[in-house]
Amino acid sequence: MDTVAEVAEVRRRVAAARAEGRRVGLVPTMGFLHDGHLQLVTRARAECDFVVMSVFVNPLQFGPNEDFSRYPRDAAGDAAKAAAAGVDLLFTPGVADMYSGDASTVVVPTGLEERWEGAVRPGHFRGVCTVVAKLFNIVQPDAAVFGQKDFQQATVIRAMVRDLNFAIAVAVVPTVREPDGLALSSRNSYLSAEERLRARALHAALRTAAAAYAAGERDVRALEAAGRAVLDADPRTSVDYFAVVDPATLEPAAAARADSVVLVAARVGTTRLIDNATLGSG
Ligand code: PAJ
Repeated sequence: MDTVAEVAEVRRRVAAARAEGRRVGLVPTMGFLHDGHLQLVTRARAECDFVVMSVFVNPLQFGPNEDFSRYPRDAAGDAAKAAAAGVDLLFTPGVADMYSGDASTVVVPTGLEERWEGAVRPGHFRGVCTVVAKLFNIVQPDAAVFGQKDFQQATVIRAMVRDLNFAIAVAVVPTVREPDGLALSSRNSYLSAEERLRARALHAALRTAAAAYAAGERDVRALEAAGRAVLDADPRTSVDYFAVVDPATLEPAAAARADSVVLVAARVGTTRLIDNATLGSG
């Protein structure tokens, strides 16, 4: 595996792979890699024969009071994990490689930008779409792989690919979890040992809503209340949202269906975590 920071050099390497007739896959990440990220590589490997992973903590998608400066970073560990997982080219640009000082263009998703994560994190999704569009243009992959863990992000990116005519197949990989259900996340490293145990409540709340659905509950409010109660039981956990939504539009679901998706965001102590589950998976 080679590690490259310059955009022009990535283009050269990808062009060389393409000249050999290889199908190019892209896995965008912000690093501090865990098994969730590596599952995306496995998926990319299954569909492509030249896999590019980007590691870039994108300042544009963090709000002014968010964790950009303390976001966990581990360049050496990431390189070792990426190589072992089968990444061919690791793209690790610096901020100056990605954004010129006078950059003046952004990609703004409409509608969904203002819901759920977008409502709590104003400007987050324009930061995500802008950097992902740039990565798509730099690498020009045949396929790109994202995680279901960030359900709204995957939905926003699929819409961007459709709306801006990117000739890229988007694959979405199921959420990889710890044995106790906690979704793997780079931000889990912020949790103290005690908070790590309390963080199980996110998945437990999703399971509770799914179990209520399996037991016949079809009232959206009742399902949300059942899940929320699990999180509210811990006064040190604050819920940003716990919502049953339509899987395609992410609008609040009018009626609960097996394919409805439950989205949750909550703060465990000061650490903000998100997760989701399909209602009919209980
Ligand atoms: P990051 O949080 O590093 O996640 C990179 C990719 O890994 C995303 O597609 C995310 O959904 C996926 N992922 C994270 N945890 C996962 C898990 N437990 N199981 C499966 N997949 C998981 O998401 C971002 O970075 C950024 O917003 C990015 C798309 C790179 C743009 O900056």
